[in-house]
Amino acid sequence: MIRSFLFVPGDSERKLEKASGAGSDAIIVDLEDSVTAESRPRARELAREFIDGRDDVWLRINPVDSGEALADLQAVMPAAPSGIVLPKARSADDAARLATKLDELESRYDVAAGTTRILPIGTERPRALFSLESYVGSTPRLAGLTWGAEDLSAALGARANRDEDGNWLSPYELARSLCLFAAAAAEVPAIDTVYTDFRDAEGLASFARRAARDGFTGMLAIHPAQVATINDAFTPSEDEVIRAERIVALFRDNPGAGALALDGEMIDKPHLVQARRTIALATRLRTRQEG
Ligand code: COA
Ligand code: MG
Repeated sequence: MIRSFLFVPGDSERKLEKASGAGSDAIIVDLEDSVTAESRPRARELAREFIDGRDDVWLRINPVDSGEALADLQAVMPAAPSGIVLPKARSADDAARLATKLDELESRYDVAAGTTRILPIGTERPRALFSLESYVGSTPRLAGLTWGAEDLSAALGARANRDEDGNWLSPYELARSLCLFAAAAAEVPAIDTVYTDFRDAEGLASFARRAARDGFTGMLAIHPAQVATINDAFTPSEDEVIRAERIVALFRDNPGAGALALDGEMIDKPHLVQARRTIALATRLRTRQEG
């Protein structure tokens, strides 16, 4: 379960060095938008060196139709990244194309077959919004679905994507919701997008809490200072776990009942499902921390 993915520009030795100690559940070494074309060859080398021998490090390649993706993959696949973040995906066809390429490269570079996951950024192009359902049953490599507002707003020619209070404007709320629905339909985690205002800790906390509340299981980070806040938001609180345990106990003690009352509120099957999920997540996180 990955709560936080920390982006690091692939051409920055300094930031790569810092990223390991930032406490994120995963790191994404970027070869796309945060790296210029001139720096890309060097970034590929740094990415390969950094990823080699490390767990939970992902690689963001360039879009499959950019002419750069293949060189990105050829340079870095020998280091066996945990997964590939796929930007500007048009539909699951792009993920499928990538999956086919990975089949070949895994075998060429002696990487265990099928182990390289794929995390598409599903909403960076306007057309992608009309085919998000394509991710359902697309490839067993699919590790989740995330979304992006920056490239989408650039594609629209929009002057802003958030209002004066920092909230998403309606086109981006729609993209965010569609990502959430598509991920649930494909039965993979939904990962919320970056909060670019990296000095605004309070704004980040409120975005991350809202994401967790809505059903996202993690979020992208761009700065080490964001990681703890994000991890915290996606970790069930003690109160949430206690309430979940009460719900499970109530159903256990009332085996014949479909609907029950808890603290003056009606609870039924969906609440039980969610309570079990909360307990399972809390247990997994605790086990990982102890292990
Ligand atoms: N990963 C690792 N370390 C990072 C980092 C990151 N994403 N962002 C900043 N740092 C390090 C800096 O190197 C600095 O350490 P130092 O002083 O020891 O060199 C420290 O954290 C504090 O950084 P700060 O001065 O607050 O920020 P900055 O001005 O250096 O960098 C950004 C700001 C936005 C350029 C930077 O955070 C960044 O590159 N983020 C990722 C961008 C990216 O990958 N975008 C693509 C996805 S949208
Ligand atoms: Mg981008």
